[in-house]
Amino acid sequence: MKSVHKPVLFKEAIEFLNLKENGYYLDGTIGAGGHTIGMLQATSGNINILGIDRDKEILKIAEQNIRSLGFESKVILRHSKFSDSFKILDELEWDKLDGVILDLGISSYQVDNPHRGFSFHENGPLDMRMDRSQGISASDLVNSLTYEELKDIIRLYGEEPLAPKIARKIVEKRKLSPIKTTKELCDIILEAYPAKRRRRSKRHPATKTFQALRIAVNEELKELEDFLSKVLDRLNHGARIVIISFHSLEDRIVKHFFKREAKDCICPPGQMVCICGHKKRVKIITKKPIVPSGEEIEENKRARSAKMRVAEVL
Ligand SMILES: C[S@@+](CC[C@H](N)C(=O)[O-])C[C@H]1O[C@@H](n2cnc3c(N)ncnc32)[C@H](O)[C@@H]1O
Repeated sequence: MKSVHKPVLFKEAIEFLNLKENGYYLDGTIGAGGHTIGMLQATSGNINILGIDRDKEILKIAEQNIRSLGFESKVILRHSKFSDSFKILDELEWDKLDGVILDLGISSYQVDNPHRGFSFHENGPLDMRMDRSQGISASDLVNSLTYEELKDIIRLYGEEPLAPKIARKIVEKRKLSPIKTTKELCDIILEAYPAKRRRRSKRHPATKTFQALRIAVNEELKELEDFLSKVLDRLNHGARIVIISFHSLEDRIVKHFFKREAKDCICPPGQMVCICGHKKRVKIITKKPIVPSGEEIEENKRARSAKMRVAEVL
């Protein structure tokens, strides 16, 4: 693997977590451990962290990084989806948490390893599973979904205007032979893209389709929604929820969740008397999302689409 994962919005995330000495925290996307290590350093190790990742390979890297700094007794690592972290909290008998961080998406370790199939820059198996022990791969999807299903995934999760053309091309090509590699898929997308549009586009034509398939393979939006639907019950008063997202679909989910939970009544407009009985549960700390500085983006291109939102439990 070529690169080291640089935690995005590192200083800002640690500051916004408002860490409490001896508190209990969840890092639901521990990755290589960057944010967790920042939290440990900021409190001289006087906190307890449950670190979750659905990628076993990355958990090993997190473990090494945490151990090399002597913080291993302060972190419990588990291989899991973050939507299942509440079951782990039960097993650990950690009742309520003092804060949560999610740094969504994939890490440089995953993108830069061609064998994981996330990148169109290098050839590899068309996999894209964060957890390789589970579920179906991107290759399974592109070779089995109907034209309509493929088109919808590419349009909804990739926000790709050329979704119908790309889906049609995929269906046409897979009749000749199954699509098994990132290069094969990338070439198909390039064929579907008119040359003029290719020249005008700032990003690689495969960016959106690859994003769409990755979201579908890992059910990323459902994961986030499931997590958010349960997390407030497991947070102490004053706990902060810090979420860093990398595309508008995730950011929208977080924004709407915070907005809804920051309101007393969520009855439909026009309802004269409240019938929902909803009570606000959070205060929004970041009215606008926090974005990386120009300096951070220059140092780490991956940071350019990051948005961080923070709320505090009432
Ligand atoms: C952007 S990286 C996190 C990097 C980490 N904050 C750091 O500083 O090293 C995202 C990580 O979250 C993991 N991940 C994404 N979705 C997940 C989910 N639903 N459950 C658990 N882990 C997930 C990925 O496998 C990846 O390792």
